[in-house]
Amino acid sequence: MTNETKAFDIILYGATSFVGQIMTEYLATHYSLSSREDDSREQVKWAIAARSDSKLLALKARLNIQDVTHFVVSADDESALTDMANETQVVVSTVGPYALYGETLVKVCVETATDYCDLTGEPQWIKLMLEKYEEQAKKSGARIIHCSGFDSIPSDLGVYACQQHAMAISNKPANHIKMRVRKIKGGASGGTIASMLNVLKEAKNDPDLRKALVNPYVLCPSSAGFKVRQKNHKSAEFDSQLGIWSMPFIMAAINERIVHRSNALLDNQYGTSFRYDEAMTAKTGFQAWTFTMGLGSFMIAASFDPLQKLLANTVLPKPGEGPSLKEQKEGMFDMRFYATTENGRNIITQVTGDRDPGYGSTAKMLAQAAICLAKDIPNLAGGFWTPASALNTHLIKRLQDHAGVVIQQIGD
Ligand SMILES: NC(=O)c1ccc[n+]([C@@H]2O[C@H](COP(=O)([O-])OP(=O)(O)OC[C@H]3O[C@@H](n4cnc5c(N)ncnc54)[C@H](OP(=O)(O)O)[C@@H]3O)[C@@H](O)[C@H]2O)c1
Repeated sequence: MTNETKAFDIILYGATSFVGQIMTEYLATHYSLSSREDDSREQVKWAIAARSDSKLLALKARLNIQDVTHFVVSADDESALTDMANETQVVVSTVGPYALYGETLVKVCVETATDYCDLTGEPQWIKLMLEKYEEQAKKSGARIIHCSGFDSIPSDLGVYACQQHAMAISNKPANHIKMRVRKIKGGASGGTIASMLNVLKEAKNDPDLRKALVNPYVLCPSSAGFKVRQKNHKSAEFDSQLGIWSMPFIMAAINERIVHRSNALLDNQYGTSFRYDEAMTAKTGFQAWTFTMGLGSFMIAASFDPLQKLLANTVLPKPGEGPSLKEQKEGMFDMRFYATTENGRNIITQVTGDRDPGYGSTAKMLAQAAICLAKDIPNLAGGFWTPASALNTHLIKRLQDHAGVVIQQIGD
């Protein structure tokens, strides 16, 4: 909901997290307060927030941004979260695992008609937020957008762009899109690992949740009427149509669900029998099988409490830790969306990023999603949206211009 009277366009909550610090630096570099005299640059009024005053002060000193306003707010302090939300048009949150710390902020944003976006990739938590707050958001006017990082912006906008192209050249959406990660370089942070381990822990103790999580339409409104069986890439396999080996892609679990929700929110624009699946490509069958077996062993180990604790205390990064600056700069991703149009033309949409996907690129994508929400879509109604259903072409342009993420047609 656009509100000129609020002091800030965006407040970044969780600025002291691993990814929050990268995003703060990005905002400081591209939207510095001193650049407000420079009329040619987009003006964004932003502030930062977190639970620790000393960490916020240290971050401001390190980045030399003492003029940036900061708020000290704990994730369970509803009154302080409300005061913070009332100061801004959009709250961007990087405080996770969201299933542990995220609900009060979503509740407050819905109640105060404040727009919100985050980095959650936790489908069980999104489902809960939809059940509890979706109707209220529609009434209050708050626009809530989960999954505004590497999961699931490239997948969601890649499919959106691929379908726009399919419709432009054949007047109909493609019935099936396969996304294949051709190249990916980058590491995981402790916060992401903590979120993944928490999903496994919750699913282990809740059979209904396990059942819900395997449903590709778990985040879709039941009125969408989607029933077609979707492929689940659990194994290594040779795709004779594309002529490539593929292996499971861990982020498919959230991305595929967001893409189907986008289809539902876009009034079934991709069709009610639309099929979508994600996987990574491998150079050889040996690589595909070795990776698949390694991933399977890790998932089994991580679902047993003692082994999970052992992994968390030894090999895995801890909350607050993540890839080095060098790893972020040398990181990248290249994703391809393959489809055949109604009139038989094979199209390929490519989405590339110029930093490691989870942090360097995610921080830039999240910042641009938040700015887009604050500035580009004043007439969008309240509710729980997805990046493609709410931000679509506006965000595609912003990512290309300001975030090193390029979405283009490379075939046909
Ligand atoms: N979608 C994507 O592509 C993507 C990419 C990267 C990360 N993520 C997700 O984003 C989240 C952040 O990741 P990260 O690696 O930056 O994690 P992190 O470094 O572990 O940060 C977690 C943050 O939560 C804060 N926090 C914890 N308890 C809190 C409380 N009670 N009140 C207020 N703040 C609290 C911590 O505050 P302190 O700083 O004071 O410790 C910290 O800043 C994770 O959920 C991760 O899964 C998603």
